[in-house]
Amino acid sequence: MGRMEAAVVGLGKMGSALARRLLDRGLAVTVYNRHPEAAADLVRAGASAAPRLADVWLGARVAMSFLADDEALTQVYLGSGGLVESAPQGAVLVEMSTVSPVASGAVARAATQRGLHYVRCPVSGNPGVLSAGELTLIVSGDDASVQAARPYLEHVGPRLYHVGSQEEARVVKLAVNAMLAASAQMLAETITLTEASGVPRAVFLDVLAGSAMGSPFVRYKTPSLLERRYDATFTTAMLLKDLRLAEDVAASARAPMPVTEVVTQLAEASCDEGLGDLDFIALLPHLQKLAGRPTDIPLS
Ligand SMILES: NC(=O)c1ccc[n+]([C@@H]2O[C@H](COP(=O)([O-])OP(=O)(O)OC[C@H]3O[C@@H](n4cnc5c(N)ncnc54)[C@H](OP(=O)(O)O)[C@@H]3O)[C@@H](O)[C@H]2O)c1
Repeated sequence: MGRMEAAVVGLGKMGSALARRLLDRGLAVTVYNRHPEAAADLVRAGASAAPRLADVWLGARVAMSFLADDEALTQVYLGSGGLVESAPQGAVLVEMSTVSPVASGAVARAATQRGLHYVRCPVSGNPGVLSAGELTLIVSGDDASVQAARPYLEHVGPRLYHVGSQEEARVVKLAVNAMLAASAQMLAETITLTEASGVPRAVFLDVLAGSAMGSPFVRYKTPSLLERRYDATFTTAMLLKDLRLAEDVAASARAPMPVTEVVTQLAEASCDEGLGDLDFIALLPHLQKLAGRPTDIPLS
């Protein structure tokens, strides 16, 4: 049997980690990014770069994408020369970004009309988690499409939750990120509270990790919180995007999300303060400033 072939579209933090993971697992990988320079390191590692989006189908029948937002999704999938228009019949589209059910639904309809498999597969984790093959995959789509995608997804995530046949995975992912945002805000609040009361951060985080509130999230954020590092695995701007999407879904579902509304305002204020490109845990320096306390990083 020949090597499994896959295309990866969107070579930002997550897409680059995905392409590298698939290469490490022995797949033949074709990559495409709007700004092609992002492909250079991956080509050196053995990937083939497609000069145009439609060319990804020369090397693969399965394309996996990690794109910033609804606008990027719509351009890449539904634009002229985009993935839906150019895909060969029976091709498999595995869309892994965090986007709205509305934008994803439009892609689903176009893909179905062309006889393509469309799998929504937003993920929980970050580039490091992806590189370790430990992503949590939240999947929706019809059984045949999910079955077709499964051998590829098994290379990146040991946990695959098939939660429905349509846009359910998009909603579940937004719900998870609403929890993530509230947890990040609570970490910021409790670190600020305990430090203001003279408890060293390392002591508090140690107690938290050992408490009923200890979680993978608290554990993986601990080293950067101790080192006051704010380089992004997932930016504050992306978190704000997800909170706004969650609010839209909540409005359509008539599901009150009062905590999410407050965290959205705090994330907006953090972005306005210039923290949008930093890691989303930059909710902490924003709160430190509100508290009139020394901030982990200089703020204007
Ligand atoms: N980072 C995480 O920890 C994490 C975890 C779970 C889920 N996610 C989700 O995964 C997705 C990607 O996140 P990321 O952190 O990898 O983001 P990122 O580093 O900002 O990468 C965004 C990607 O989208 C592409 N893009 C943006 N606008 C585009 C457009 N109009 N047309 C074509 N391509 C466009 C960018 O291409 P250019 O290079 O050309 O700009 C880049 O490849 C997001 O939906 C995010 O919410 C991220």
